[in-house]
Amino acid sequence: MRGALMYELVHAGTDALIGEIIGLAKDVATIQVYEDTTGIAPGEPVERTGAPLSVELGPGLLGTVYDGIQRPLEVIRNEMGDFIIRGASLPALDREKKYAFTPVAEPDEKAVPGTVIGTVSEGRFVHRILVPHGIEGAFTSVAGTGKYSITDEIAGVLTAGGNEVPVTMIRRWPVRVARPFAEKLKPEDPLITGQRIIDSFFPIVKGGTAAVPGPFGAGKTVVQHQLAKWSDADIIVYVGCGERGNELADVLRQFPALTDPRSGTPLMDRTVLIGNTSNMPVAAREASVYTGITIAEYYRDMGYDVALMADSTSRWAEAMREISGRLEEMPGEHGYPAYLASRLAGFYERAGKVRVRGPSGSKGSVSVIGAVSPPGGDFSEPVTQNTLRVVRVFWALDADLAHARHFPAINWLSSYSLYPDDVQEWWRDHVGEEWSAMRRTMLTILQKESELEEIVHLVGQDVLPEDDKLSLHVAEIIRESFLIQSAFDSVDTFCPPEKQYHMMRLITDYAGYGKEAIGKGKSVADIASLPVANRLARLGSVANDTFTEYFEETEREMASAFGQNTGGRT
Ligand SMILES: Nc1ncnc2c1ncn2[C@@H]1O[C@H](COP(=O)(O)OP(=O)(O)O)[C@@H](O)[C@H]1O
Ligand SMILES: [Mg+2]
Repeated sequence: MRGALMYELVHAGTDALIGEIIGLAKDVATIQVYEDTTGIAPGEPVERTGAPLSVELGPGLLGTVYDGIQRPLEVIRNEMGDFIIRGASLPALDREKKYAFTPVAEPDEKAVPGTVIGTVSEGRFVHRILVPHGIEGAFTSVAGTGKYSITDEIAGVLTAGGNEVPVTMIRRWPVRVARPFAEKLKPEDPLITGQRIIDSFFPIVKGGTAAVPGPFGAGKTVVQHQLAKWSDADIIVYVGCGERGNELADVLRQFPALTDPRSGTPLMDRTVLIGNTSNMPVAAREASVYTGITIAEYYRDMGYDVALMADSTSRWAEAMREISGRLEEMPGEHGYPAYLASRLAGFYERAGKVRVRGPSGSKGSVSVIGAVSPPGGDFSEPVTQNTLRVVRVFWALDADLAHARHFPAINWLSSYSLYPDDVQEWWRDHVGEEWSAMRRTMLTILQKESELEEIVHLVGQDVLPEDDKLSLHVAEIIRESFLIQSAFDSVDTFCPPEKQYHMMRLITDYAGYGKEAIGKGKSVADIASLPVANRLARLGSVANDTFTEYFEETEREMASAFGQNTGGRT
């Protein structure tokens, strides 16, 4: 195999199994085959392709289900039945389908990477066809309005070197290489997920990174699904990596039936699914996250906000460990290769908000949310620890909370986000002035509750002063009515930011009134027995389009119950 390249794609054996060169020593290459290698024998041919593992990029990605190396699973099922025949290699994008193309560029105009040649519509999205990487010069031709397949020539570019290069709508990109951009920008817009504990307590930004670690059954997959369904990214890339196949089947069943609350179109239309489930070959699992992020970057480059979910990055790391073991590399902690940390960092570093290349100057973003499944829920293991070092949001799922049916089981004491300061302006401009202050008040009350927990445990609540009792009472309301949010409740599954804000206001007002009342000699028992306390318990399930009335009424009731007829705050 002299002359072969690292990470070059090869076809191994008479069945032409797809594999990748992962080790080279003199003229011997080590090949990681993405499929079952049973029956492959010495002497069978290995054919080099000359190119690294790459994905096909172009119109037709949205709504499609791929395996880890971008084979279209629906096409495979139609042609081969329920199982992938070994060595199957089918084009990722439909060559026959025609797209209505509208030119943007004009002949003689300058053509640099990122220049918009024209657009096609992909569902409700404008799919911008850009001048690909490596081509620079001037357009000699641009196709007129009309229907073209992705392999038809839509433009010609005369390069500085004097070559006339035909350009089609399809591009290839090596998955392990980050796609270039002009400039990294500071993220400032929250990725709104409709999940209260995330948006209001531990927010993520468009272009941000987050990890969801948790033991088995704590709700990692449900969190990922909720984000894929409800977050306000334009496009979702969902990588099901080494987890159970039926979870991906759930996505396939649910998404076409669900509508995006913002556009009213089926959720599947904005989603690309990459499935490398636990029953599929381990080797392709390693590739699947790269396939996913490359597709995400491709849409980012058109100026979209893309969010990628990977469930679970631990299975990806295990695949790395397995491959490294076979290469007889020196194992590091827990048997993971020494480069585990740099691989994880390299993956998360591909997230970000950027100014894209080219004259358009558009901004786009890729947000990355990775689930981590530490064995036994032990967060001190290497995958969790190395992920923690690179992500900026940490939603720690807690087995005890899940056991107590407190969902989402995100622990409010051990989770954190480094983005609240970045997004507070957005909340101020779009929702209300007091978001930051109320957030701090609520987190302080929860913190207080945990400090008091030990005393309460030892001697009971009765010895506490009234204001501490009030903290416990309000903390309970925060947990039960604000933090608990069922993914399966038809209303509460998605909580718009305005409603989150109003819930925070009612709860913090209640805490404020309570404090005043205690100052005037009332007891917490008196306060807790007011009917308005009951009203606070049901806020989440108040319909999203009528909550304002209900909330205003609650505010008035609260004011009068506490004997201050202020008519509510405005
Ligand atoms: N937000 C939620 N709302 C309601 N139930 C939840 C929620 N999150 C998790 N659950 C429950 O917990 C179960 C396990 O969650 P899952 O996401 O599959 O765990 P994991 O992926 O961490 O193993 C779910 O099937 C569901 O019953
Ligand atoms: Mg799971």
